[in-house]
Amino acid sequence: MNVEKITVSGGYGKDGSEEKVKEFSMSVGDIVSIVGPTGCGKTTLINDIELFANRNTPSGRRISINDEPVPEDFIFDPADHPIALISQHTNFLSDLPVEEFLTIHATVRGARDAESIITETLSFANELTGEAILKDIAMTELSGGQTRSLLIADAVVIGNSPIILLDEIENAGIHRTKALELLKKYKKIFVFVTHDPCIALMSDFRIVMKNGAMQHLIPTCQEEKNVVGKMKQIDDMMLNFRQVIRSGDELTESVFNDSFNVLTF
Ligand SMILES: Nc1ncnc2c1ncn2[C@@H]1O[C@H](COP(=O)(O)OP(=O)(O)OP(=O)(O)O)[C@@H](O)[C@H]1O
Ligand SMILES: [Mg+2]
Repeated sequence: MNVEKITVSGGYGKDGSEEKVKEFSMSVGDIVSIVGPTGCGKTTLINDIELFANRNTPSGRRISINDEPVPEDFIFDPADHPIALISQHTNFLSDLPVEEFLTIHATVRGARDAESIITETLSFANELTGEAILKDIAMTELSGGQTRSLLIADAVVIGNSPIILLDEIENAGIHRTKALELLKKYKKIFVFVTHDPCIALMSDFRIVMKNGAMQHLIPTCQEEKNVVGKMKQIDDMMLNFRQVIRSGDELTESVFNDSFNVLTF
């Protein structure tokens, strides 16, 4: 079965009251954000999606695929599971070198041309992270940002999962706006749990959570799309400042002012 659409039917918030968003669907090509304060239930919502909740989790939500109940193979056969979850706290347990790990995964997935798929995965991962991932390094030696970048690239390119859930990638030293632009080229459903305004506004719509419940669904309007173009420039400027500090240079007033001068608004 090809996943075209996934639907979340609402349940209950932490206090047992019904969710205001009764239902929402995501189709292939959609980018969706889940936003809200700490502890409001964002991770719980994407876990419900990953678990294919069927009124059997504390939230009482239900997930359906292509308007049908989720097929049993999706639930019980890991090879058929169409969802990849990049969680908030990810660590590799394997100390295999990166290339070997990717080769094993590509082989298990039946990739025809493992070598080129691994090259694509690594170059994708390296566009996401500031510090290049070398193919001979052990997985356990990767930094947090490198680990997340490799997991995202692995899920997108090798795993070929149609649905990818990402929990707060912004704190991992990933170039987030670039990541979104790269991801948009792949026809999938991406769900971002995020506190980042750029990621939220680059999404097609966002779900606002409050007290464990889906409170609002806000489609990104044209005005917000205009704002995000400007915000990306500020974001790039902040990333440059970060790079200056990271590389041990001084962030002088002239470096600071020059950065402002290149803004186009
Ligand atoms: N609908 C719900 N019904 C019952 N409990 C819930 C519900 N939603 C969330 N919770 C509980 O609330 C707690 C916080 O939820 P969660 O970890 O999902 O928040 P979060 O928004 O991801 O927070 P953070 O931003 O800190 O990562 C968890 O213990 C979770 O089990
Ligand atoms: Mg969370």
